[in-house]
Amino acid sequence: MKRNVIRRDEMLGAPLELGGTPITLDEYATTGLLAVAIGPRGNGKTNAGLLMAEQLSVQGWVSVLIDPEAELESLYGDAVADPDMLRNALAKRDQAILVVNATDAGEFVPYGRAILDVADQYRKPIFVVIDEGQLFSASRKRSNGIGEAADIINEFAERGRKRALDLFITALRYTGTLQRTLFANKNLTLIGWQEDPTAWSALAPQFKASKVEFADLNALTPGQFFCLSRHGVEKIRMPMAEALKTVAPKAKPVAKTLPATFNEWSRAMERIPTERLAALNEDVVKLLSAVAELSAQQVLAGQAALQDELETRT
Ligand SMILES: Nc1ncnc2c1ncn2[C@@H]1O[C@H](COP(=O)(O)OP(=O)(O)OP(=O)(O)O)[C@@H](O)[C@H]1O
Ligand SMILES: [Mg+2]
Repeated sequence: MKRNVIRRDEMLGAPLELGGTPITLDEYATTGLLAVAIGPRGNGKTNAGLLMAEQLSVQGWVSVLIDPEAELESLYGDAVADPDMLRNALAKRDQAILVVNATDAGEFVPYGRAILDVADQYRKPIFVVIDEGQLFSASRKRSNGIGEAADIINEFAERGRKRALDLFITALRYTGTLQRTLFANKNLTLIGWQEDPTAWSALAPQFKASKVEFADLNALTPGQFFCLSRHGVEKIRMPMAEALKTVAPKAKPVAKTLPATFNEWSRAMERIPTERLAALNEDVVKLLSAVAELSAQQVLAGQAALQDELETRT
């Protein structure tokens, strides 16, 4: 029996330049690329997907951008009008970047099927960017077409080697967002700023072999990620995608200056005049905490520390 041996020739010698050591896709020729980017709003996840799409689409891929926020048409041209148009465009391959507007799982499903059909039929490299992946691949909820969308995305993830279908998907958090199979099979991971220490337990195993700690993730600024690839763990500052460069202002990296040790805290406190500390009455604290989105626990801890400081001063 004749075996169909698929070689991803387009991957040989193809680089991805994400701001760190260039990633050579040779290492993904046997598996395909399954990239996952995790980070809060405004962290630069969309930019990461666009940057990769731009780089791959000049190296033989057709990139499909699934856009739930209608923000990409203005950058890459009109979205395809319907799933048939996507099917035709993917078969013809005369346009390197295609935008699909899909605001929810139900809208995504017919487009997802079109992509699978074409990948099965032609086996030419396609790179799918699924922005806000939690909309289409929730870990639990299976209603509103999300189960079917999630199944399609899982099929994308399985088609890397044999069907030349590569995938990039973003999510706001590491747990409770995407289907487990995606996390289990990913082979390129971008982890952006993390503010919640309780998220660390889920993330820690990936950083086992490195010296990276929660504080390192907490100190990341927009555009910065820890990149976990076959090369290991590397902190990167992602370049801006060409199309975004022209419209988006580059976020200025603001160094986080929160004190870290007890001595630093103590010195920082000492520098604040007593009148200013005394002015932090309950209403002011409530307002500031709401603005900073502090948890009730953080507010209580802060109020206790404030109380202590004021007592030692009088
Ligand atoms: N690599 C980068 N370097 C500098 N600034 C960046 C970088 N990436 C993103 N930014 C800035 O952050 C803003 C948000 O980026 P982006 O839209 O990619 O984030 P996001 O994580 O997709 O956010 P959202 O959840 O709101 O969609 C950009 O408009 C840009 O100003
Ligand atoms: Mg985005």
